Amino acid sequence: MSKVVIGVIGCGNIANNAHIPAYMKNEDAEIKYFCDILPERAQAAVEKYGCGTAVTDYRDVLADESVEAVSVCTPNNMHAIIAMDALRAGKHVLCEKPAARTYDEALKMQEVQHETGKILNIGVVNRFNDQVNRIRSYIKEGRLGEVYHIYLSFRSHRSIPGLGGAFTTREIAGGGALIDWGVHFLDLVMYCMDDPRPVTVSGETFCRLGKDIEGYTYKDMWAGPPDPAGVYDVEDSVAALIRTDGPVLTLHGAWAQNIGENEMLVDFMGDKGGIRLQYGGDFTLYTAEHGALVSYVPEGKSRPMFENEINAFVRCVRTGEKLPSHIDTAVITSRIMQAIYDSAQIHREIVL
Ligand SMILES: NC(=O)c1ccc[n+]([C@@H]2O[C@H](COP(=O)([O-])OP(=O)(O)OC[C@H]3O[C@@H](n4cnc5c(N)ncnc54)[C@H](O)[C@@H]3O)[C@@H](O)[C@H]2O)c1
Repeated sequence: MSKVVIGVIGCGNIANNAHIPAYMKNEDAEIKYFCDILPERAQAAVEKYGCGTAVTDYRDVLADESVEAVSVCTPNNMHAIIAMDALRAGKHVLCEKPAARTYDEALKMQEVQHETGKILNIGVVNRFNDQVNRIRSYIKEGRLGEVYHIYLSFRSHRSIPGLGGAFTTREIAGGGALIDWGVHFLDLVMYCMDDPRPVTVSGETFCRLGKDIEGYTYKDMWAGPPDPAGVYDVEDSVAALIRTDGPVLTLHGAWAQNIGENEMLVDFMGDKGGIRLQYGGDFTLYTAEHGALVSYVPEGKSRPMFENEINAFVRCVRTGEKLPSHIDTAVITSRIMQAIYDSAQIHREIVL
């Protein structure tokens, strides 16, 4: 069978650290274009990976009929535009998370996916994480009993990315800690619980520690350096309560907080057992057996999740199978995040 011909749109961090290396390892895929509005980034990719052509306009990628699929690895403000153009040009799309800046944008993407019938998957990579899939199986088997409450914590000491840049500008990113980190946590919980229907949402967001861009003290800044003349109008922390027709979700998130410890975990609380997942790592299962409290850490091999994600995408281009990262599931998380932002704006609960 011929290889799936790929265009990578946006050649920054996630493209170079995840998408491109995974395509390069996949024997059924071939990258034909590296596209970035910064020509030196597109050219650097051609030289580094020894294949493809560098272009600066994504429409050149879409105009090539031999391209079957694209990875959209641009900042959030371009996700919907490029993904919808690509679908309409007949391409299958893997678009990085979050699907879009707002729920409305995500719904438009879903509409175009349904219209065109081409694949639109979102880069909710935890759905391809072996440990997350093990947790999902434990829950399905009833090992936790009824899961009634899930606590999501994505809190870091001082980790605002590229203060003043794309990540901290609402017009570009759509939001801060919630839309950037929280989307992964919410998505993996929705996945493990088979996408329960959100019923009410109450949230507050705080734009505090990064407000004084020049005065912000930090050790490291990813996606940096800070731009003192830039914009900081997104939340550096968030708290929310989400009732669903399944478990209640509570979340605390912070790119930055004046607490010197990081906490990146998800606690699944069931009436028979509980699971604490250290985000990106192992998990512990707690339960009671024969009158004794027991806990254990299931050990097993985990394959790199980005490779799992890209391999599944390349495969589904050929098979047409619907992956768990389909836009139809991503819009549910998008709806919850939108409701948190809306609730924070009016300081009231949102009933969905
Ligand atoms: N799945 C994950 O865990 C994960 C991790 C990091 C980033 N991301 C997501 O990936 C996306 C990119 O993040 P990043 O950290 O790689 O950012 P980045 O700034 O490092 O890279 C983005 C690249 O897109 C290019 N670009 C911007 N507009 C473009 C356009 N119209 N056409 C072509 N190229 C364009 C930029 O020049 C830049 O090189 C974001 O949406 C982010 O949320 C996901």
